Parts: sequence; C-alpha cells; structure tokens
Amino acid sequence: MFMSQNLHNYRRSYEKGNLSRSSIDPNPLQQFRTWFYEAKDAVGEREVNTMTLTTIGLDGFPKGRVVLLKEYDEYGFYFFTNYNSEKGKSIAVNENVSLSFFWPVMERQVIIKGKASKTPKNVSDNYFDSRPVGSRLGAIISDQSSVIENREALDKKLKLLEEEFKNKEIIRPDYWGGYLVSPISIEFWQGRSNRLHDRMLYTLQGYDWKIERLAP
Ligand SMILES: Cc1cc2nc3c(=O)[nH]c(=O)nc-3n(C[C@H](O)[C@H](O)[C@H](O)COP(=O)(O)O)c2cc1C
Repeated sequence: MFMSQNLHNYRRSYEKGNLSRSSIDPNPLQQFRTWFYEAKDAVGEREVNTMTLTTIGLDGFPKGRVVLLKEYDEYGFYFFTNYNSEKGKSIAVNENVSLSFFWPVMERQVIIKGKASKTPKNVSDNYFDSRPVGSRLGAIISDQSSVIENREALDKKLKLLEEEFKNKEIIRPDYWGGYLVSPISIEFWQGRSNRLHDRMLYTLQGYDWKIERLAP
C-alpha cells in the first residue's frame, strides 16, 4: 500500500525583495536580463538557465520538461533540441508554448508565453559546432522521444559512430536545431510575506509592452 504523505507543514516565508511599477524596466527582456544576472550570481551558471518548456501535445495534453536556455536577445529566448522529438512534433502543430523559470533562492519565478519557431540553419550550425564531440554524436544518435529496446543499443550506436567520425567533421543533422520563442507575455513573480506576492505582467500590444499588476 502507498502511504499518504502529508506536507501541509512545509511552509516558507518570502522576504527577499519586491517589485513595483517604478522599479521595473519598461522592457521585459531588459527586466529579464537583470533578474537573470542576479540569479546567476546567486545560483551559478549550472542552475540559472534551466527552464521548463511547456507545449500542447498532439494528444491534447500540455507537457512541461526542462531544457536549457542557450541565448536570449531582443527577439526572445533560444533553446536547442531534436526537431523530431515529442516537443518538436507538438510545436510543428501548435507554435504556442510557455517557458518558466524558478529561482528558489531569489524567491522569483518568470513565466513566458510565446510563439516558437525554428532558428535559421546558421544559428543551429553555430551552436551545434560549439558543442563537445560527445554531445554532437549524442544528438546524431538519439532519435529523441522514440521508444528504444535497451541502453546497450544506444551505447553500441555511440561506439560505431565514434569510429566512423574519428577523423571526420561532425555535421549537424537537419533534425536537430534551435527554436526561438518570441514572447507575447512575460510575468515576473516575486515572493512576499503573507502570501501577498508581487506579480507584474507585461503583454505585447503591437510594438509596445503593457504592464499590469496581478493579484497574488
Ligand atoms: C537540466 C536539464 C537540461 C536539459 N536540457 C535539454 C535541452 O537543452 N534540450 C533538450 O532537447 N532536452 C533537454 N533536457 C531533456 C528534456 O527534459 C527532455 O527529456 C527531452 O528534451 C525529451 O523531451 P520530449 O520527449 O518531451 O520532447 C534537459 C533535461 C534536464 C533535466
């Protein structure tokens, strides 16, 4: 029998900061940059760029999974993956996605809604070429999200490929590359005491960002 686990007493109080209309940047990407660097200083490079990508699946269910943010700029947020993976197939049918960050030590959350599109080939090539050999071969080998027989099959494939590419250039396969998520809204959440958290929502209106405060 599975014992029920009661976590009702796991409580925490949030007191690290606050968000106000006058303290935030009019541009959410600039605001993101500020928070990203503050989080990086607190948690380090290994942790700061993990984000949950949620897509609407072909089965109608939303699905979130962690991917790494590899770049962001005025156009949005970039990550890299296998275009034939479950997420890739989902995006091909429904470009609407969400990205969310949770930086516990900062008591901060960022939730982005946006449209995902494949990055130009040269962007995918540049990033692919910057990866270590093992990661490049791994990307080639793994038919991401498909059912496989066992672990050994994967290891065997890697061995064969390591031989094959010993003295050969490893070229990015076209089923692997980047996505740009162009934001349509970005919410910044800062924990506050008494559950009266600060939430500021930026929504794209034409070329401008509307800013509203949301109830916690
Ligand atoms: C810390 C962490 C980082 C990850 N980064 C990536 C990534 O950048 N790209 C990627 O395709 N999968 C990444 N994954 C694996 C994904 O979470 C997921 O298992 C994989 O992309 C297959 O997802 P799908 O079957 O829903 O398409 C990462 C997982 C973890 C835990």
